[in-house]
Amino acid sequence: MTRILMVCLGNICRSPLAHGILESKLATNQFYVDSAGTANYHVGEAPDHRSIAVAKSHGIDISHQRGRQFKVADFDAFDHIFTMDDSNYRNVIALARNTNDIAKVQCILDVDKTIKLTHVPDPYYGDMSDFKQVFQLLEKACNTLSHSLENTSL
Ligand code: 4NP
Repeated sequence: MTRILMVCLGNICRSPLAHGILESKLATNQFYVDSAGTANYHVGEAPDHRSIAVAKSHGIDISHQRGRQFKVADFDAFDHIFTMDDSNYRNVIALARNTNDIAKVQCILDVDKTIKLTHVPDPYYGDMSDFKQVFQLLEKACNTLSHSLENTSL
């Protein structure tokens, strides 16, 4: 079983989408996908209604997900940790205990060299068009990532 964790700030907008999209592309008997936020603002909450809506429009149900905060034990529980932006990356790396922990962490858009953006923009204070853009970015990155994971060439 390969375990993948998606991380953003609040765990209600971007990482729940990345979680749902990647999960939809991988065999559940081989891959476990989860998500978390570096902050504790939305622990226990369902994803933002706009993330739920954009996922639903693509046939992915993320409404059952609940927010949780990233914790040091996640370095042991997961093989790969993908952050949405540089701030998430720095916050996760700040909790790393050793080079093994650090080696597990990567910004999600770095998995696809054809994506020009370096980070997934935070859509929280935006509108539905921002959530649609986040979905498209994550869809492309997760497509590439799913193929890499299936070929275990990450
Ligand atoms: P996310 O977006 O990190 O993609 O879940 C945010 C959600 C909530 C907040 C910020 C970003 N907040 O400040 O509450």
